[in-house]
Amino acid sequence: MRVITIIPTYNELESLPLTVGRLRQAVPDSDVLIVDDNSPDGTGELADKFAAEDSSIHVLHRTGKDGLGAAYIAGFRWALERDYDVLVEMDADGSHMPEQLPRLLEASAAGADLVIGSRWVKGGEVVNWPLHRKLISRGGSFYARTMLGLGLRDITAGYRAFKRSTLEAIDFDAVESRGYGFQVDMTFRVAMLRKKIVEVPVTFVERELGDSKMSGNIVFEAMWNVTRWGMSARWKKLTSKK
Ligand code: GDD
Ligand code: MN
Repeated sequence: MRVITIIPTYNELESLPLTVGRLRQAVPDSDVLIVDDNSPDGTGELADKFAAEDSSIHVLHRTGKDGLGAAYIAGFRWALERDYDVLVEMDADGSHMPEQLPRLLEASAAGADLVIGSRWVKGGEVVNWPLHRKLISRGGSFYARTMLGLGLRDITAGYRAFKRSTLEAIDFDAVESRGYGFQVDMTFRVAMLRKKIVEVPVTFVERELGDSKMSGNIVFEAMWNVTRWGMSARWKKLTSKK
């Protein structure tokens, strides 16, 4: 099983070395692809340095900040052109513990088409989040779960492992979400394909270095899309029954 862990970065100069170091140590068999959006703080150059020193590390440079979704799609395309079997998503800021990646990979090997590292299942948790972030995340997952009719607890989670075949079945050109709604978008698409989605508990540790890129616009885009998708799925169901 060839694994690649894709790490999107925008101004993660302090966090990236720690995350990459821990990942190489915890799961040495996983290659790493850093997808940098031309970070002004020089994260891209640092990533190049890692790649020069370690042949398992690769870097994809993009021209400017274009959102998490666009960065991941570029990373997926890069990895699918090569012979990887499992494609992992991981944040650069240490929130997704590399030491817990084996859990995700085990679930993947056991047959999950998409593994979600979940904060909101039994055994999962969030460390160092203020109440308002917990409410946004739980509320967002609750709203998306209800609107989209998905039986999952953590729909916006960004720690995931996709089987190659799962991503090959998705038309990336049709994915419009730019921000973190991308995660919901992908979950919904995988669920519509009737693929097997498994949540494994993880501990999400809020970053200690650098800044979150979460914004009001990102939340709004996600809510708006979930509402549209939910309505349109209902409408299709209604009209197909006639
Ligand atoms: N290349 C690129 N381009 N990377 C980006 C961009 C972008 O436009 N925006 C964010 N990132 C990277 C960050 O550098 C980091 O590695 C990762 O994406 C997550 O960004 P954070 O800003 O740390 O996200 P968060 O901690 O607020 O949000 C987390 O929770 C969300 C909600 O559950 C993430 O895990 C999200 O994936 C998740 O949806
Ligand atoms: Mn973060």
